[in-house]
Amino acid sequence: MSGYRLTTVETVREQGSWAFTAREGDEDRGVFLVLCADESDERDDEDPPVRAWINRCTHEDQRLHREAVGAVTRGGSVVCPKHGSAFDACDGGCDNGEAAGTTLRSVDVTVRDGAVFLTDDDLSYLREGLPDEDDDDGAGPSSSSHLTF
Ligand code: FES
Repeated sequence: MSGYRLTTVETVREQGSWAFTAREGDEDRGVFLVLCADESDERDDEDPPVRAWINRCTHEDQRLHREAVGAVTRGGSVVCPKHGSAFDACDGGCDNGEAAGTTLRSVDVTVRDGAVFLTDDDLSYLREGLPDEDDDDGAGPSSSSHLTF
């Protein structure tokens, strides 16, 4: 029954995705939360409707959640802004595009009473928002603009 309280399910639902920085060994990791299913209202602690993923596409070193726009979600998937591969928001799997056949690295979280807790033994919470190196959006591909809201 431990774990760091990150945010609420409702916040993830409202914002679409929610990012934080965690420490793994001597590395800072960007992690983002998304809902596993749009209409998941059932309270099932064994299968929480929120999932957490390391904020890196499996194809190239590309952020999936960006500070300015969050993660692009569509039809139960998280869409990579660079080449458009879609990852299942529930299991992290990808069967399309450049990242086909790969799976996002998951981070353990648990939902209790509408709050999301970090329960991953390998990661400890540092702060809300992404690591510094993830903050600049660089020359984000304008071709992704049609994927955002
Ligand atoms: S970098 Fe994500 S699909 Fe290419």
